[in-house]
Amino acid sequence: MAVNSMRVLAVQSSYSHQWLINQSLFVPQSHHLLILLITPQAWRMLSRSFMTPDSNKSLLAYTPMLHARMFSETPKFREAHFQPLHEPLISHSSSSTPHEPSSLFLDGNPSLDRPLFVQFCANDPGELLHAAKYVSPFCDAVDLNLGCPQGIARKGKYGAFLQEDQTLIYNLINKLHNELDVPITAKIRILDTREKTLEYAQMVLKAGASILTVHGRTREMKGHKTGLADWSVLRYLRENLPRDTVIFANGNILKREDIDKCLEETGADGVMSAEGNLYDPAIFAEAPGKGMEGREYWRGKDGEGGWRMDAVLRRYLDIIHTHVLRTSPPPRKPLYLPSDPIPAPADEMNINGKREQERGEEEPAKKKQKKGEKKEKTTSPNLIAMQAHCFKLLRALVGKHTHIRDALARSRAGDVDAFENVLQMVEKVVGEGIREYIETEGGSYEEELERDERFKAAKAKEVSGKGIEKELDKAEMDESSVETVKNCKRPWWVVQPYVRPLPKEALQKGSLTLSKKEKAKLESSVTALKDENGKGKVEKEILGNGNGDVDENREREIVEIPKEGLVCG
Ligand SMILES: Cc1cc2nc3c(=O)[nH]c(=O)nc-3n(C[C@H](O)[C@H](O)[C@H](O)COP(=O)(O)O)c2cc1C
Repeated sequence: MAVNSMRVLAVQSSYSHQWLINQSLFVPQSHHLLILLITPQAWRMLSRSFMTPDSNKSLLAYTPMLHARMFSETPKFREAHFQPLHEPLISHSSSSTPHEPSSLFLDGNPSLDRPLFVQFCANDPGELLHAAKYVSPFCDAVDLNLGCPQGIARKGKYGAFLQEDQTLIYNLINKLHNELDVPITAKIRILDTREKTLEYAQMVLKAGASILTVHGRTREMKGHKTGLADWSVLRYLRENLPRDTVIFANGNILKREDIDKCLEETGADGVMSAEGNLYDPAIFAEAPGKGMEGREYWRGKDGEGGWRMDAVLRRYLDIIHTHVLRTSPPPRKPLYLPSDPIPAPADEMNINGKREQERGEEEPAKKKQKKGEKKEKTTSPNLIAMQAHCFKLLRALVGKHTHIRDALARSRAGDVDAFENVLQMVEKVVGEGIREYIETEGGSYEEELERDERFKAAKAKEVSGKGIEKELDKAEMDESSVETVKNCKRPWWVVQPYVRPLPKEALQKGSLTLSKKEKAKLESSVTALKDENGKGKVEKEILGNGNGDVDENREREIVEIPKEGLVCG
């Protein structure tokens, strides 16, 4: 890699489009980089598998956030989070002496996992540099996460809780800018005002960050208070930072079309998606054209469609078998298509000749573990992440087929047979769902929509719009997620975004309670804005109108270092 020439560019103007082009990370024909964040390697490969070879060049992936001190001091931690070589990473190696291809394993492997940025959180420049030197030969840049809003980040003083110590942020970035042989980039959250955010961004860039990723939410916007990211602040940064600053926008990406909308509204150079990609790893890919669906993509009567869950899960497990476990996946029958001949009962046997069964329900109980006998736990980051990934991927399906949810809940990390069993169950119900849809001419799905609470609300709005029935409060509808649900909802057998209730909805449902102080603050700001702007626009600005995700339960976990799947940005 032309590190020296990059560094010249980096010093002159640390952050330019030319820099990206030099790195081959920016393909002008493909217009913009799409960025996928925070997933272990197998999921990154899965996401890339939906792209064409050309569009793959514009897909940049990040590792999940790694704790710099733990990473540099603890070999076991390194081994459990970053596996670029078959051998453990015991020392720093130079980026300019390439490793033998046969020694390369998963993370940052040029044939599987590039471009890749490795993300750290840190509060000590020396520790950050030490950690970064382990990974620099296997990645295109190191990213500093200044966005993590969680309690553990507050406790450990990193992520968004460094905002108050801008000198430290400067020193962290500048140290790597001067001493690391790959570029340093940073991810920030917006501050209370756009002016303060601009000053903050300018400082981060001055310190030497080559790319600035901006999550359009403040540190306080998390959990049920996540709300909508404010793209207008990103537009403000675009207009007030030098034109060649590379900005990545983050927040509010639920589906493919949101990416173009975000690029247009913010003027950013790339769009980062985290949660959208976890629910739909094909979020960055073009859907196959009409008539080209094949067995993996499903399209309904209205022309709307999505990737089938059985197909996506199969791809994921095939990657786990082939690349993580380095074994062949089991032989697989073609996925069901309605045009297939009706299966004879014998065909419903699984590949081992046994009828499918839900492990743990019909199977005899496994032998109890002997006292003192310890089952070795897997340390593979990819195997550890599988259950959480499958729950997100299959969210709509397991909500309906709870026996599959239970089987998945019983699937332990490293027990790939258990996940194969889940896949068989998924294939079966997806086939049945599609068959029923065809037989009822779409009626089965329409019935399902009738039962969906938020969908009902959207329908009520349409009716009220025609002036026939109940008059719904317009402002109330604008501040709810029903429209988004309506746009995103697909039959349960295709991957789809999960639209979280908005803060106001969470408040109404009682899943969000505000402290007295928060209530008072909210009320006074609502009143002030109402006076200023008029009704309707008001709470949208305060509470947001979107769909972020933070798992509140996880937030309550008391851990020193972020765990896989913890929301950290
Ligand atoms: C399960 C999960 C894990 C996350 N982990 C990270 C992380 O390691 N580093 C990071 O910068 N952001 C992390 N984030 C935050 C996202 O990067 C992103 O800033 C946020 O979710 C908003 O973007 P989105 O709407 O595309 O999800 C995580 C988010 C989720 C949902």
